[in-house]
Amino acid sequence: MKFIVNKGGKLSGNIRVPGDKSISHRSIMFGSIAVGTSHISGFLEGEDSLNTLRAFQAMGVSIEGPENGRVVIHGVGMRGLKKPAQALELGNSGTSMRLLSGLLSGQAFDVELTGDASLSKRPMQRVTRPLASMGAQVSTAEGGRPPLKISGGSNIQGIDYDLPMASAQVKSCVLLAGLYANGRTCVTEPAPTRDHTERMLNAFGCAVEKSGATACIHGPASLQACDIDVPADISSAAFFMVGASIAPGSEITLEHVGINPTRTGVIDILRLMGADIELINQAEVGGEPVADIKVRSSQLKGIHIPEHLVPLAIDEFPVIFVAAACAQGETIVTGAEELRVKESDRIQVMADGLQALGVNARATADGMIIQGGTINAGNVHSHDDHRIAMAFSMAALRASGAITIDDCENVNTSFPDFVGLASAAGLSIRSDA
Ligand code: S3P
Repeated sequence: MKFIVNKGGKLSGNIRVPGDKSISHRSIMFGSIAVGTSHISGFLEGEDSLNTLRAFQAMGVSIEGPENGRVVIHGVGMRGLKKPAQALELGNSGTSMRLLSGLLSGQAFDVELTGDASLSKRPMQRVTRPLASMGAQVSTAEGGRPPLKISGGSNIQGIDYDLPMASAQVKSCVLLAGLYANGRTCVTEPAPTRDHTERMLNAFGCAVEKSGATACIHGPASLQACDIDVPADISSAAFFMVGASIAPGSEITLEHVGINPTRTGVIDILRLMGADIELINQAEVGGEPVADIKVRSSQLKGIHIPEHLVPLAIDEFPVIFVAAACAQGETIVTGAEELRVKESDRIQVMADGLQALGVNARATADGMIIQGGTINAGNVHSHDDHRIAMAFSMAALRASGAITIDDCENVNTSFPDFVGLASAAGLSIRSDA
């Protein structure tokens, strides 16, 4: 499926983008191993979080929905999961695979985790190494890639682990294995990453002790059912934040968006570039801060993006690169080598796509250097990466002609009905088989 996006237009109105992907995954995982019934609202009905939901159903958890974002999970308790009849197929979802590898290391049964072509290329030693030092038995295919084979019945021990990279997935994997471990499990991160696992474990009654860059839990732990209101995903809102910033005459309000400070790097970066972004109706729902985000168009300027903001905006770089292409002057991104191991190599794929549209963009080992200027009409490849497809859709707002984007099916992993919502907001976009 391809997207064809006509040039020009502006974004306006009030929209609510789908639920937060990270929080949706965790709500299913924690609700499933809790005691009691958890009610989830605002759940992301995208392929990635649905793969997590199906995985727990395959392990014997009774889950109703999703229906209009509502899910009811009848938790089975820490030891209530059952061996699935076959390998758990997790599609495109790195979060499912990495978090489940930790959670399933402490089970009594063997289980295999598989994924699609993109997930099958992604590095898994970052989770199998710490799990092995906890006493778990997890093997990978050649080169540390999926599938993962987890042997049940291991005696898991708590560890102190220094994360070698800023990764919330690895941090969460180790903490979830720690739920089943004997003793204390502590994870120290080199830079702050999203902390939804820590916040939601607390909401489910499992205390996470935080001290500076270290988070600790005591195992074996138990969770109590909890109701979760999933806010709209700031990573999905980011496409509209950039779209409204770069398209003259735009004014859009993105409703009920999660603004957890470990996720708001995109707001900080766009503001440093001169964006006009206002947070209104700030509130807290279930331990997570939310706000409506109002964005008006403005002339952006190029900057050297501060490296400490990189992990706080890690999923937003495809569309930040589009913002940079529309800015006055040069934008430099460094310290972002993690982008090379996402759903695609987001440094190379974005540099290639921007160049195909006539933008002066140069990939570097750990980032990109982009000269702002004009964007031509053209054809770009998403490499089956949802965020690449949506980022280039927004580039059409400032292009001199239509942009066609190939292989856009995976937009469904994080943003079902992107085309419908983006059209309603003013983007001239259609999909074509
Ligand atoms: C996620 C963490 C991030 C992010 C991913 C979701 C999570 O990955 O890119 O989309 O839910 O924990 P890393 O932690 O590997 O950077």
